[in-house]
Amino acid sequence: MKKLFIIGNWKSNKTSLEARNWLKDFQISEVQDKEIIICPSFTLLAMMHAFIQEHNMPIKLCGQDISPFPEGAYTGAINGRQIKEFASYVLIGHSERRTHFKESDELLAEKLKMAQAYQLEPIYCIPEKNASIPPGLSVVAYEPLDAISTSGAHPVPTDVANAVGKRLQEEQHVRYPLYGGSVTSENVQTYASLPHINGFLIGGASLDPQEFAQIIQNV
Ligand code: PGA
Repeated sequence: MKKLFIIGNWKSNKTSLEARNWLKDFQISEVQDKEIIICPSFTLLAMMHAFIQEHNMPIKLCGQDISPFPEGAYTGAINGRQIKEFASYVLIGHSERRTHFKESDELLAEKLKMAQAYQLEPIYCIPEKNASIPPGLSVVAYEPLDAISTSGAHPVPTDVANAVGKRLQEEQHVRYPLYGGSVTSENVQTYASLPHINGFLIGGASLDPQEFAQIIQNV
């Protein structure tokens, strides 16, 4: 059975009370060969980490961003050392960061260096199928712009997602190509069975604990 990453990207959503309720309502039984990861806002990381430990839940945490700088005089930035206290992964290059925060490939390269320095596994996102990626990445998510945030309406055709995954594996030596954009419990199985897709980055559908659990059950 191939390993599948099932990653919920909560984006800029949820208060600590809402996050706690999500954790209480999230029930899954079978997680074999599945790496379940949640990317919450930084304000939620400490509470979620404690809750997950206390209840022995099969969930890893992921930062939604990382400072391109180390610890020090960088007001407002969350650095790798701080993230590592609670999380094992970090998102880098999400299209919303590229678009709304004008993040360039040069900046992303600095963030990658920081992830490496603090042993955080980067989940690197590309918004186009031919986007170039830095060498040495293990987990890369293809998230075409048109498919993101359409509440399940516009996922890319499965053959396109599979072809991108194949290219990432064969040309860029990416171990785990992921797909993201409008993934729901209804369509997830069609992607999960593709030979070159090893999991999903899920936005809107991860906000509801029952729907996210259903996605995990359906793959
Ligand atoms: P979506 O978002 O699942 O809401 O389309 C995916 C993402 O942006 O990671």
